[in-house]
Amino acid sequence: MNDEKSVEELPGVGPATAEKLREAGFDDLMSIAVSSPSALIEAAEIGEATANKIIAAAKKLADVGGFLTGDVIMEQRNAAFKVTTGSKALDTLLGGGLETCAITEFYGEFGSGKTQITHQLCVNITRGEDEGGLSGHTVFIDTENTFRPERIIQMANGLDLDPNEVLKTIHVARAFNSHHQMLLIEKAKEITKEFPIKLLIMDSLTSHFRAEYIGRGSLAERQQKLNKHLHSIMQFADINKAVVAVTNQVSSKPDAFFGDPTRAIGGHVLAHSSTFRVYLRKSKGNRRIARLIDSPNLPEGEAVFSIMEEGIRE
Ligand code: GTP
Ligand code: MG
Repeated sequence: MNDEKSVEELPGVGPATAEKLREAGFDDLMSIAVSSPSALIEAAEIGEATANKIIAAAKKLADVGGFLTGDVIMEQRNAAFKVTTGSKALDTLLGGGLETCAITEFYGEFGSGKTQITHQLCVNITRGEDEGGLSGHTVFIDTENTFRPERIIQMANGLDLDPNEVLKTIHVARAFNSHHQMLLIEKAKEITKEFPIKLLIMDSLTSHFRAEYIGRGSLAERQQKLNKHLHSIMQFADINKAVVAVTNQVSSKPDAFFGDPTRAIGGHVLAHSSTFRVYLRKSKGNRRIARLIDSPNLPEGEAVFSIMEEGIRE
C-alpha cells in the first residue's frame, strides 16, 4: 500500500496532484480513503467533485468502507493484537491487554499511575509477540513534560532489556499547546515511514484543551476540537495497526465541567471515541485499582496492580 505508484493510479490524479497529496501526508491509498473531501480539496487544490471521486476510488482500491459479515469481523478482531501492561490482572480486565487499532484511555487523579502505565507500554511494545509486545517503536506526545528516560531505564532493566536500545525506539515530542498537539499527529504519520511505530502515547490528551478553553461558553468549541483530534488519532491507530494510550487527569471529586469522575469525562466525545476507558484510583502504598468503564464487549470489573521500581506488576 505504500507503493509510490498507487496514488497515481487514482482517477483524476496526475503527477502534480500526486505530489501535492504526498506533501500533505496523503501518500497511500488508505490515508486518502479515510480522508474527508475538504482535507483533500485543501491539500491538492482540487474541486469537490474530483475529491469525492478520488476518495471513492481509494476506498475501492484500499478495500475499505464496504459491509462485512459478522464472522469476518470476528476474524479481524481475533487478529487484533494485545499488548501487555505488565500486570496480568490489568491485562485480563482489558481482555488480554491493550488492543491494536483502538484507543485506550486511562483517567484518574494525580498520582493514580497514568504516566507510569504509558512508560511501561513504551518498554513492553519493543518486545516480541510472545512476550506481549509487537517489536515496535513508540511515538510519545508529551504535553506536561512527564516523559522520564530514567524511568524507562529502570523498567527496561526490570525486564532484562538493554535500556539504551529501548530508549532508541521512543520518539518523544513536547506539545506546547492544543494546536501543536494536533499537528504532532501529522508529524507522527511521517515518522511511521521510517520506523515501525506500533504505539502512540498522548500524555495527557486533555490538559491543553482544558487550560485553553475555559468556561461554559467555550465548552462546545473545545469538544469539537477534541473530537477532531480523536478522529485523527483513531485514523493513526487504524492505518498503522497501532496501540494508542491516552491519559486524562480527573479530580476524584465531582467538578463543575466534568461531573462525576467515573462518568462522562470531557463530555461525551471521549466516551464515544475511545474504545476502552480505564478509571484508575489510588489504594494502599504503591497499589492502584483499575476499573473498566463502558466497554462495548467486556464486562465491567476491577483489577489491582502495583507500581514498583522495576515497573507495573501484580
Ligand atoms: P498526574 O500526571 O499528576 O495526573 O498523575 P499520574 O496518574 O500520571 O501519576 P503517575 O503515573 O506519575 O504516578 C506517580 C506515582 O507512581 C508516584 O506517586 C509513585 O507512587 C509511583 N512511582 C513513580 N516512580 C516510581 C518508582 O520509581 N518506583 C516506585 N515504586 N513507584 C514509583
Ligand atoms: Mg502523569
